[in-house]
Amino acid sequence: FLTIDDFDLDGKTVLMRVDLNSPMDPEGNILDDLRLKSHIPTITELSSSKLVIVAHQSRPGKDDFTTMKPHSLKLSDFLDRRVTYIDDIFGTYARTTISNMKKGDIVLLENVRFYSEETLERSASAHSKSHMVTKLAPLLDVYLNDAFAVSHRSHLSLMGFTEVLPSGAGRLMEKEILALDKGIKGSGHPNIFVLGGAKVDDSLKVAESVLKAGNVDRVLLTGIVGMVMLAADDVDIGKVNMEFIETQGYIDQIEKAKELLKNFNGQIAYPTDVALNDNEKRIEVDVDELKEQNLPIHDIGLETIVSFSREIEKANTVVLNGPAGVSEVEEFALGTQEIIKAATKAKYSIAGGGHIAAEVRNYGYQDLFSHLSTGGGACIDYLAGEKLPGIEAIKKSASSK
Ligand code: 3PG
Repeated sequence: FLTIDDFDLDGKTVLMRVDLNSPMDPEGNILDDLRLKSHIPTITELSSSKLVIVAHQSRPGKDDFTTMKPHSLKLSDFLDRRVTYIDDIFGTYARTTISNMKKGDIVLLENVRFYSEETLERSASAHSKSHMVTKLAPLLDVYLNDAFAVSHRSHLSLMGFTEVLPSGAGRLMEKEILALDKGIKGSGHPNIFVLGGAKVDDSLKVAESVLKAGNVDRVLLTGIVGMVMLAADDVDIGKVNMEFIETQGYIDQIEKAKELLKNFNGQIAYPTDVALNDNEKRIEVDVDELKEQNLPIHDIGLETIVSFSREIEKANTVVLNGPAGVSEVEEFALGTQEIIKAATKAKYSIAGGGHIAAEVRNYGYQDLFSHLSTGGGACIDYLAGEKLPGIEAIKKSASSK
């Protein structure tokens, strides 16, 4: 795809899709500003353009599905320049404002998911015929996608403009791809993936894809996916944990995990001991004691923490995705915290988006990581070797020039 280097954007009207979707409290305050900050270098580079930013916050029906006003205020703070919030997407007010913009102006349009066609999963060509594209495109010179974190969706604002405008990627998009590619291909062996969290199907997909490709030496499993792998290895993890896996809809993943174990024996590791939640108290047990205890697994155990940490510290490349346990509760945060700490000692370290990147920041380790991804689902899909529609759309646009 093309990048900012391929265009002369001086004085040009640029529409840029970014991902500012952030956790917010009920009062409308933004609780984590990683995504906002991550776009600052791209926005700064476009300071001699007329920059129209489009983004979303949350999804319809959710409490934090709100306007983009708080985001515009934060961006203005970070940039020390005014980012004008427009409570419109492509109506007369938005179009008049865009037409009257001067070089150096920045506007942030309203939450693009207020417009129902945005979230239709469609091709670039279908989206290019939408009201939003036909109304806005005549006022624009160039379209940039800097929203890696939502590029796993084929939504209107990621696809539609690439058919009708010269299109390319912003700096954050470039940075994400470069860093994640380094993780996948291994910027040096041993290359270790540490996969945890709650999305068992996604984690197994990533494990399968990277092991099949042969770039990754070891996959260490924690979190719920670690539990599923124990069950797949015929460890009796206790009724309460089996029921939990069932309520999460992951029973069928046990078969998938068995197959992985069979095909990549020796390359997959899972906990040898765990921490159980006994009335909010942490109790450590070996996995072969799980049957008698029958208490919920909430973290990896000390022995596992030590052996995983040793392996991670010695890695040249390490990719973390998903917490090792219920890391939001202090009693069960140890596994996640220690794994994060170990990863800072590896030569090249990536924390996949969402929960684990937030924990890295909570512990203040962000500067010790080579890369914190802004992507959640997008990061997982990318690591699993899937093609992301938003990226494919800008590639196609470049090749048709
Ligand atoms: C995210 O938070 O992962 C992205 O902003 C995408 O949001 P979505 O899952 O609501 O599409």
